[in-house]
Amino acid sequence: MVRHLQSLQDVSRDELKSLVDRALVLKKERLSGVRHQQLAGRTVGLIFEKPSTRTRVSFESAMYGLGGQVIFLSGRDTQLARSEPLKDMARVMARYVDAMVVRTFGQEVVTELAEYSSVPVINALTDLHHPCQILSDIMTVVEKKGAIEDLKIAWIGDGNNMANSWIQAAGIVGFELILACPEGYDPNGEILAAAQKEGGKPITLLRNPEEAVAEADVINADVWASMGQESEQDERLAVFQSFQINAELMTKAPADAIVLHCLPAHREEEITEEVLESDRCVAFDQAENKMHMHKAILEQLIGEVKKQ
Ligand code: CP
Ligand code: NVA
Repeated sequence: MVRHLQSLQDVSRDELKSLVDRALVLKKERLSGVRHQQLAGRTVGLIFEKPSTRTRVSFESAMYGLGGQVIFLSGRDTQLARSEPLKDMARVMARYVDAMVVRTFGQEVVTELAEYSSVPVINALTDLHHPCQILSDIMTVVEKKGAIEDLKIAWIGDGNNMANSWIQAAGIVGFELILACPEGYDPNGEILAAAQKEGGKPITLLRNPEEAVAEADVINADVWASMGQESEQDERLAVFQSFQINAELMTKAPADAIVLHCLPAHREEEITEEVLESDRCVAFDQAENKMHMHKAILEQLIGEVKKQ
């Protein structure tokens, strides 16, 4: 059966660990000049209905870096823009490409494409999840701190797609996760309840950022208004003011706590320039790691199809 990556629920604890290990090896090999060709003759289709810098370019360079090739389609380029059914799009694309990487609004778009596609469908961000980002973020944590299992990870701000995927990761891997979100901006309740039931370490939802960072090893920031929420920007700016990651908040965290930001960053909103540009923030290594992790994902999912 073809494997998809719709959310982190599609990945087991062991698979997640081996993706991180493999991405770290691929990073080292690239630095030492190894030329990979394991996906030569393979093609990935990128279908992006929202803007992207990092995810698009890192998936494209990952695929080229493994000897493969890429076809990029923005939302307006396909017949989806003229209401062609997703189930038709999925079956047609699967005859041309070896995997589809999809960025869109509703998670149900990814679900339907996966249901009808005979090649892997990879979620490159929906309103509900951002699984590939969290896989690269875990890689970054492992790279910086050695391992993640015994760490305390803090999430400060909106209970958005990134927060939901961190929650799933905490359930799967079993690390402690402390979220601080303003009331009314909680993460998805079902995803939270399911991960809390998995019985690893605690996953806690708080209202106070200072409490959330007090013992944190890793502090995560993301925009206050995600793509598609532009009309809520002013309202959110007011609600989220006390959730900013700034020098004052960092004094409440352990001295060796690092800051992650998936980028793009809105300076002086969710994070100050001072913290973003400080040594404690690893956002640019985190951005680089997306490419190495995307190689590991493509290699694994396309490799499995090749074996069938
Ligand atoms: N972090 C991330 O997904 O960035 P892009 O929106 O630029 O892809
Ligand atoms: N939560 C953000 C993540 C961007 C990478 C968004 O969905 O816009």
